[in-house]
Amino acid sequence: MLTNHVRTLQGFHDFEPNDDDFSSSVIKGLTEAQKTLPSKFFYDEIGSNLFDDICALEEYYPTRTELAILEKYKDEMAECVGEHVHFAEFGSGSSIKVRTLMEAFKLPLGYVPIDISREHLIQSAAGFSNRFPHIPVTAICADYTAKFNLPDLAEGHYVGFYPGSTIGNFTPKEAIQFLLNAKNKLGHGGFLIGVDLVKDHTVLNAAYDDNLGVTAAFNKNILARCNRELDANFNLDAFDHSGFFNADESRIEMHLVANQDQTAQVANKTFTFKKGETIHTENSYKYTLDGFANLAKSAGFTPAQAWTDDNEYFSVHYLSAD
Ligand code: AVI
Repeated sequence: MLTNHVRTLQGFHDFEPNDDDFSSSVIKGLTEAQKTLPSKFFYDEIGSNLFDDICALEEYYPTRTELAILEKYKDEMAECVGEHVHFAEFGSGSSIKVRTLMEAFKLPLGYVPIDISREHLIQSAAGFSNRFPHIPVTAICADYTAKFNLPDLAEGHYVGFYPGSTIGNFTPKEAIQFLLNAKNKLGHGGFLIGVDLVKDHTVLNAAYDDNLGVTAAFNKNILARCNRELDANFNLDAFDHSGFFNADESRIEMHLVANQDQTAQVANKTFTFKKGETIHTENSYKYTLDGFANLAKSAGFTPAQAWTDDNEYFSVHYLSAD
């Protein structure tokens, strides 16, 4: 089945990303004074499904707000992006948001989804290809934060796409490095990027601590994943979810808070948790429009245009490479 899907693509490049550093990352993170677990490990199959559920929550405004911005301004975005473009999406997932834009793009020469999850990538790329049979698709299986190349082009140029405000999950320093690397890969093409904005703290806090407890389940899944994959024995009931806006750092922080003194074994190592101690699992930075434009400038891009919703909850920026 997957082989049939691959046949519908113009190209498939596999950089064979490995995620076998899960065990060493968990042990390293739990050994630090402030215990941490990297948020990239949220996304096993269960975590990815929980994230899809988060995106549909009333409290989680980013997904629907960004989609509405893309829908409303797709013609202006297409104008910025120009013609003869190969549209390279970093972390393409289900390739949903790009579909809105492709309806408006003039003469796109190709779509290049880049994702770490091989099966999901191939299926989504084939789905895109069926929907837009006139746009050749070259899928790239890679960890987009690690080393990979975009294929050389016979004609046209690349433009990057990075929706979802995933850039907020990097520290500002890491975000600049990510943009620098992307700029090297994209050449003289620009970058269309979704960025979540600073806003009323009540709105922010609710988005990361919803009433149904979906974000709590998403956060705790990282411990459940340790239990499944690393022979760990975390008691999930002995940790509480915490998600709150830290205004000094301009970021949402997610933590897992030990609600009792306890120990847990992970890969034959024992870790001790005092009641109230936390494992810091995620940061989600929120920017002002000017703050993000300045960050993009530090990476050598020229902020050309930004679109927002009426509440200024979310923004989409077109960064020009020239
Ligand atoms: C993937 N990323 C942009 C999400 C965010 O909002 O930072 C991850 C997330 N964490 C909790 N809810 C959603």
